[in-house]
Amino acid sequence: MQFFFASQIDVTDRVEAQEKVAHQKALFEAEVEARTRQLKDALATNERALEEKTILLHEVDHRVKNNLTMIGSLLRLQANAIDDPRLVRTLGTMLERIDALATVHRTLHQSPDIRRFDVGGFLQGLVADVLAIAGRTDIEVVDRIEAVDIEATKATALGLALNELLTNAVKHAFTGGRSGRLTVAARREGDAVVVELGDDGPGFDPGTDSRSLGLVLVGRLSRQLDGTTEWTSSEHGTTSRTRFRSEPAE
Ligand SMILES: Nc1ncnc2c1ncn2[C@@H]1O[C@H](COP(=O)(O)OP(=O)(O)OP(=O)(O)O)[C@@H](O)[C@H]1O
Ligand SMILES: [Mg+2]
Repeated sequence: MQFFFASQIDVTDRVEAQEKVAHQKALFEAEVEARTRQLKDALATNERALEEKTILLHEVDHRVKNNLTMIGSLLRLQANAIDDPRLVRTLGTMLERIDALATVHRTLHQSPDIRRFDVGGFLQGLVADVLAIAGRTDIEVVDRIEAVDIEATKATALGLALNELLTNAVKHAFTGGRSGRLTVAARREGDAVVVELGDDGPGFDPGTDSRSLGLVLVGRLSRQLDGTTEWTSSEHGTTSRTRFRSEPAE
């Protein structure tokens, strides 16, 4: 009898303990659920904030591009009123630089990741723009461009440097209406990116030939990119090779 009573107490205790555990478990689960919901909400807010930031930065790139195009149009209008051919040429070169910057911002505006700049897409756009503006349909383009992304912070320096190299090929290699072949290559080599522009023009000596603003700019911009630009040139043509450090995309 005593034994039976004792086991009764035992069972009641156990049931109570189980209920307590179940209650605590329910409390704990509710707490976990609430915390998960909070974290999910925070994550969604963060994602929204990031999305808004992306849209905003894209909008800025779009506006910068539009403003550069506007500056270009104003200067072109002004250029029409200038008679001095030397001045017209200088202004034309400056306009090409402004156009190249607009192409940089157009490429950045189209980038799905605001931190990255699509070198291949930019190069294709730049070559098409420069040849179209120069009215050169007689230059055959050999495309050896691979998909290469670099840090968006390097976009402007690279864009301006490549514009100088490309316009040099068009102006000096395919000069006087001389047709030819332009080879454009871009590739990644580990933590470096290499861009090559090759023409089959008369060549020049980059060491001794006089440097105007163009080549001085190329030197400065290459250093800014943490890289170098070197030329191989002969009477069969010139190839410039721009190589700089760039973190591969994550
Ligand atoms: N791809 C090329 N083929 C042949 N000659 C070239 C080439 N690139 C450059 N050169 C020579 O090097 C010189 C210096 O080039 P640089 O870009 O500094 O000056 P530019 O093109 O004459 O003037 P700008 O300041 O408008 O660029 C050119 O005048 C030209 O003689
Ligand atoms: Mg030049």
